[in-house]
Amino acid sequence: MSEKGMNLTLKIWRQKDSKSKGKMETYPVTNISEHMSFLEMLDVLNEQLVEEGKEPVAFDHDCREGICGMCSLHINGEAHGPDRRVTTCQLHMRMFNDGDTIHIEPWRAKAFPVIKDLIVDRSAFDRIQHAGGFISVNTSGNTIDANAIPIEKEDADEAFNAATCIGCGACVASCKNASAMLFVGAKISQFSLLPQGQVEAKNRALNMVKQMDLEGFGNCTNTGACEVQCPKGISLDNIARMNRDFLSASVKK
Ligand code: SF4
Ligand code: FES
Repeated sequence: MSEKGMNLTLKIWRQKDSKSKGKMETYPVTNISEHMSFLEMLDVLNEQLVEEGKEPVAFDHDCREGICGMCSLHINGEAHGPDRRVTTCQLHMRMFNDGDTIHIEPWRAKAFPVIKDLIVDRSAFDRIQHAGGFISVNTSGNTIDANAIPIEKEDADEAFNAATCIGCGACVASCKNASAMLFVGAKISQFSLLPQGQVEAKNRALNMVKQMDLEGFGNCTNTGACEVQCPKGISLDNIARMNRDFLSASVKK
């Protein structure tokens, strides 16, 4: 195995704050190992910038294990980059070649304003969750054991699949309409498939969809780009289920 690393040219969006106009800046990085993650490669760049007395590039990250949903980069025009079913923190530099130019931008959506460089404000997702992404649980001391409630295996599996959504926002960033329907569909489905989710089912669908619209996300036109770019493989079926729940809640109003 060759020990020689890759030399790359990075074109990175720099933006001082939400009010400033941003622009792409060019940075060379050298000797990048194919075993590094994309974020480790950015760490190398930032160390280099600090040594040069320049401001490092701001980007979101936390767990670096594909769990927290913080990392969020648009890499060469794709949310989370060229690999599939991985977050940016799990993307490896072996997906790139020596001499490549890599374009790195923040998520682009009206509802996700840029805070600084590659960091966007995703609090719109929090507000959608607050509008209905919860269940009422009896915590009085005589709580029914969840295992005592029989649930169809198929429903349990689908609810768990929906629950793997990490709220990263790649679905919004990859949609030409900046629609948040895959995220909201997943967050509604994880409850609507289970008996524990039925108490608030009607208000949940109505309130979460209302908040989604208030936040300025676009409409779904069934392009399916969100499903392709979603690092957790959240299925479009969740959007159909959300639409059914919303329609039936609207009719029963
Ligand atoms: S649906 Fe997928 S892409 Fe969208 S927020 Fe959830 S994990 Fe991220
Ligand atoms: S840093 Fe947590 S999912 Fe990427």
